[in-house]
Amino acid sequence: MAGELEEVRSFVPEPENARLLRDAFGRFATGVAIVTVAGPEGPVAITVNSFSSVSLDPPLVLWSPDRRSRRFPHFEAAEHFAVHILEAGQGELCWKVVKDAYALSGLGLLPNSHGVPVIPHVLARFDCRREAVYEGGDHAIILGRVEQAELRETGDALAFFRGQVGRFLSA
Ligand SMILES: Cc1cc2nc3c(=O)[nH]c(=O)nc-3n(C[C@H](O)[C@H](O)[C@H](O)COP(=O)(O)O)c2cc1C
Repeated sequence: MAGELEEVRSFVPEPENARLLRDAFGRFATGVAIVTVAGPEGPVAITVNSFSSVSLDPPLVLWSPDRRSRRFPHFEAAEHFAVHILEAGQGELCWKVVKDAYALSGLGLLPNSHGVPVIPHVLARFDCRREAVYEGGDHAIILGRVEQAELRETGDALAFFRGQVGRFLSA
């Protein structure tokens, strides 16, 4: 607002101020997605906000797993994965998967046609085949070709902003 003193921090990203860069990235409000793959002992899942649509023709999406994550080898190796766009009421599920890669075990999730366990009642789902894995610093960039998709007509989105999840109301 005009006349108010506003603190603006300007910085050159360095390893020492990674927290600031993370906070700046966090000013980008996103949806929240859970990516699943079929692990040797059942579903392996990760909560992500790095999901992005890329191309309509061919149908491509991307997301970025952290190489330092214990779950990383599962996602890098998987030929098929499913991306679930969470609905506003799925905040608890989001945090369970943040804490535990195997949180979806025992929920009786059904597999898609490629054996990937899928979460029901989400806003949209993209069943993907891994198209490419690119270098992205401490993350990898996984490009997926959408082989099957589904969407719901109604429902509010689970949104992520400044480290917190909330409800983004649909019109
Ligand atoms: C809203 C939200 C978005 C996240 N997005 C990503 C992401 O895009 N990529 C990623 O590797 N981790 C992301 N994380 C962190 C993972 O969900 C998870 O907490 C992390 O993999 C835990 O470390 P571990 O795999 O070593 O157990 C996100 C966490 C939250 C809460």
